[in-house]
Amino acid sequence: MNLHGKKILLGVTGGIAAYKAPELLRILQKRGAEVRVAMTAEATKFVGQTTFAALSNFPVYTETAAADSKPFQHIDYPRWADIYIIAPCSATSLARFACGTGEEPVSLCFLAMQGEKWVVPAMNSVMFNSPAVQRNLQTLRSWGIKIVEPAVGHLACGEEGAGKFPEPEDIADELEFSVAKRSKTLLITIGRTQESIDPVRYISNRSSGKTGVAVAREFLRGGWRVIAVCGPMEAELPKQCEKIEVKSAADMNKVVLKMQKQANAIVHCAAVADYRPKQIAAQKVKNSRVMQKLELEETPNILKNTIKNKTSKQKIISFALETENALQNAKKKFEGGGIDILVVNTADNFGKDKVEYAILSKNSQSAKLAHGSKEELASRVFVGVNA
Ligand SMILES: Cc1cc2nc3c(=O)[nH]c(=O)nc-3n(C[C@H](O)[C@H](O)[C@H](O)COP(=O)(O)O)c2cc1C
Repeated sequence: MNLHGKKILLGVTGGIAAYKAPELLRILQKRGAEVRVAMTAEATKFVGQTTFAALSNFPVYTETAAADSKPFQHIDYPRWADIYIIAPCSATSLARFACGTGEEPVSLCFLAMQGEKWVVPAMNSVMFNSPAVQRNLQTLRSWGIKIVEPAVGHLACGEEGAGKFPEPEDIADELEFSVAKRSKTLLITIGRTQESIDPVRYISNRSSGKTGVAVAREFLRGGWRVIAVCGPMEAELPKQCEKIEVKSAADMNKVVLKMQKQANAIVHCAAVADYRPKQIAAQKVKNSRVMQKLELEETPNILKNTIKNKTSKQKIISFALETENALQNAKKKFEGGGIDILVVNTADNFGKDKVEYAILSKNSQSAKLAHGSKEELASRVFVGVNA
């Protein structure tokens, strides 16, 4: 609900993705925003203005509506709004914005809007990559207007490429993340580590990074600044995180200790290797078909190191992955001290959307393992940290 109280003017233009604009409107409302709509004449051929009027519970500013309602909608609507987002924005409307022409409602509002402006271009990928469209986008960027990058994928015209309207939830996330004040900082480790054996081989694990990304997203949404120290992973980190990429446990340890002072909470979500090869071979180890012995040594214990340096303002959240006696083993780890919240999960969870987990904290040590989504888990961690 971080868009609570925000007044958002939604500009809809004539592109096939206009059918997704009502969904975006609903999501913005669900997150607490009040929304009004302006449409180009072309947009009304794709989705009727009645839909937007009904959903926003307010008259839609269109060329025809302007004639029989208040004459100054092109000034009143942008003046009312905190944010003006044009989604989808056609190549034609983009050109109007870049040239400063105001021949219809959406571009008139664009000219009259003094507050924050966002543009979500959506079109065929050849159109999107054309020099004119790219120049116009660059012009808008140079004015400080936020461009939501289109997604890459299967386009409505049947072709593949960049230009796809992003998921409305993702657009709402971007808006929500950008309005947050971010006075608190989360330091989170995500993904897996890689411990080199030789230039081409390494020891690693199956962590996908999905849980860490869900936690990072939840804190961003909750208005926190997020510094993510990421090992290799498949999950996509929100752009609003400050991402620091590492490979080995030693590198992750170094970065985490360097950043620890800035953090109000540290979430240890990465699956860090406990051991690494004692020697990294300078050349590829030959395949002699003779069983080789790999001598291992311990990696730095990042959790213990952060507990050692923990300040009174910091909370430490750790994850314990157990394959047997999960709760019993986790309780022992929790009783060891220094951890504020311990999330116990099972190996069944790798790469999956639903996980089996329990949360131990000072207030709840009799937790039971149960299944839930990674988003639910993330939200419980967030609530726990803020308790
Ligand atoms: C079926 C159809 C789909 C279209 N989809 C898009 C689109 O996705 N993006 C775009 O920039 N133009 C698209 N166009 C072209 C625009 O509708 C056209 O440029 C129009 O002038 C845009 O006007 P407006 O910006 O005033 O709404 C499409 C046209 C048709 C007929």
